[in-house]
Amino acid sequence: MKPLHISEAPFGTTLTGIPVHLFTMVNGNGMTVKVTNYGGIITELHVPDRDGKLADVTHGFDSVTPYEGDVPYFGALIGRYGNRIAHGKFSIDGQQYQLDINNGVNHLHGGSQGFHKQVWKAKPFMRADEVGVTLQYTSLDGEMGYPGKLQVEVEYQLNNANELRVLYRAVTDKPTVVNLTQHAYFNLSGEGDILDHQLQICADRYTPVDTGLIPAGQPATVAGTPFDFRKPQAIGSRIHADDEQLRRGLGYDHNLVLNKPVAGLLALAATLRDPKSGRVLELYTREPGLQFYSGNFLDGSLQGKGRTYAYRSGLCLEPQHFPDSPNRADFPSTVLRPGETYTTESLYRFSAV
Ligand code: GLA
Repeated sequence: MKPLHISEAPFGTTLTGIPVHLFTMVNGNGMTVKVTNYGGIITELHVPDRDGKLADVTHGFDSVTPYEGDVPYFGALIGRYGNRIAHGKFSIDGQQYQLDINNGVNHLHGGSQGFHKQVWKAKPFMRADEVGVTLQYTSLDGEMGYPGKLQVEVEYQLNNANELRVLYRAVTDKPTVVNLTQHAYFNLSGEGDILDHQLQICADRYTPVDTGLIPAGQPATVAGTPFDFRKPQAIGSRIHADDEQLRRGLGYDHNLVLNKPVAGLLALAATLRDPKSGRVLELYTREPGLQFYSGNFLDGSLQGKGRTYAYRSGLCLEPQHFPDSPNRADFPSTVLRPGETYTTESLYRFSAV
């Protein structure tokens, strides 16, 4: 087996004139992960199929320039708050805050200049059992409307078990809210749509939404609904069902409440399997929720890496706290206070059957 390896190359210059880099991690099986310090974005993810043949299973571009445009968060690190906050408003300790509004009347994925649009400091590393890159970003007090200077560190690690681990850490100097996630799109065939992919999610409940995709009411059982992925289901099998929640999401765009015996435990959240190539992705996370988004807004207008990103050509599985948690005392808290350290972790394990 070849040793784990990491290399660095230029990835273009931002519109503001900052040169950014691409870090290429390769493991002994040839699995390759490419990450840029612009937005902490995973740009390529090459994994073997059942015959050992590699394919790139994620959506992305060949240089930084297209990522600076209007892109639906391809491969990006999302922060300061992944998913939606109703009307971009919340309060902590009686103090009200107003965030950037960038999704109808709501705040989405940290705002128009969220962490996915920022240049991170990057340090590659090579250890005995893994290679990777450590990314750091300081989000200033008031950025996108959030209180407190937040110092964020995210580490991507690749090992020889075909596992990509993402470790998140943040500290603040004022009370704030934090909900970091990874927004990679997956297509385990590396082509076509994802409707035949088999998905299993370890969730008995989900959070039904209003027409602005803000959780409405209490988490509901998935039993008897198209959101029941407790047994593996083809994504396309019920996506056209006569269901008000699917109509609101224009397909799947919902948070599932992960079954967790212990809060914060690194546990299996979802298994995605492509019958065609045999590729399997198992996603483990310490987060309480998982946003399943079925690529409903992809429309073929974006192209990159020699591909066209067509309707439902990719899906996202975003480990997270629940949407709109800052306004929901009944949801697990996303408040971070000075002196505390925010930490979370997700693990993407690839295999083939
Ligand atoms: C998330 C949101 C979706 C959409 C996609 C990107 O999954 O929940 O509504 O914004 O990102 O288009």
